[in-house]
Amino acid sequence: MKRITVIGSISTDFFATAPRFPQKGETITGFSFDTGFGGKGANQAIAISKLGGTVSMIGAVGSDRFAEPLINNLTENGVNADNVERVTDINSGSALITLAEQDNNIIYIPGANNKVSEKIIHSSKKIILESDLIVIQNEIPEKTVEYVINLCQKAGVPILLNPAPARKIDRALIDQVTYLTPNETECEVLFPNKDIKSVLKEYPNKLIVTLGSEGVIYHNGNSIVKVDPIEPKEIVDTTGAGDTFNGALSIAIVNDFSLEQAIKFANLAASISIEKLGAQTGSPTLSVMKERNTYEKIWDFK
Ligand code: RIB
Ligand code: NA
Repeated sequence: MKRITVIGSISTDFFATAPRFPQKGETITGFSFDTGFGGKGANQAIAISKLGGTVSMIGAVGSDRFAEPLINNLTENGVNADNVERVTDINSGSALITLAEQDNNIIYIPGANNKVSEKIIHSSKKIILESDLIVIQNEIPEKTVEYVINLCQKAGVPILLNPAPARKIDRALIDQVTYLTPNETECEVLFPNKDIKSVLKEYPNKLIVTLGSEGVIYHNGNSIVKVDPIEPKEIVDTTGAGDTFNGALSIAIVNDFSLEQAIKFANLAASISIEKLGAQTGSPTLSVMKERNTYEKIWDFK
């Protein structure tokens, strides 16, 4: 049985839907308000679990009334939350999300996610070293991400870095990760003023750039491969689609899919996730994936 450990953020998402985004200083009337479970780390862990993966989460919640539901949501969705720390005197992470014009705007408030320290990583070392893949993002402190990458590299544990939200990362660190999955904007921050195609060539089978409705591109060692996207039946909420992509990609990778098959699998999962409101609710189970499988192969997980 393959094991994945996700290290990252756990947040509550507060959604407002509106006819358009407000201007500076403007008050507009929206359509609806909703809360949901989010945080890029938790979203990715739950995406993996829903697809049948064995997954643990390392992260932190605060001491507010959102902390308990955040942990329960992980365990109810089959994610091992034994290594989620409860930090005192701070609120849990949250995101204020406006949905309008088929797009979203997000204000992310890290709260306890900023307390995911090297110390927490150190105390979870055993589970990290026993993992077949580590998955990490940029909603926890930069120093912690660096520490994890170094640790994994030394121990020979494969690591997927989803560099979202965008921030600069040292080239030396990029060299140490096994998979790097930016979107176009994040790619531009990582490799400023460089043509995507030349960067892809530098990192074959490692750099996987998601282009939203344009699909995904990477370099397979011989040439650039573009994997077409899959049209969702309808676009309800794209929040977390990238997280579902990364979760699905991870489980496909540990199950020895070829990178191209893994990306196709992840594209389908991400597309399905867009059909529902919320970052986690639309993330598909394996049986939903099989029903919607437009490829020849029905995926068979070990
Ligand atoms: O990637 C989507 C997530 O990022 C949301 O769930 C929200 O928590 C934001 O920070
Ligand atoms: Na969604």
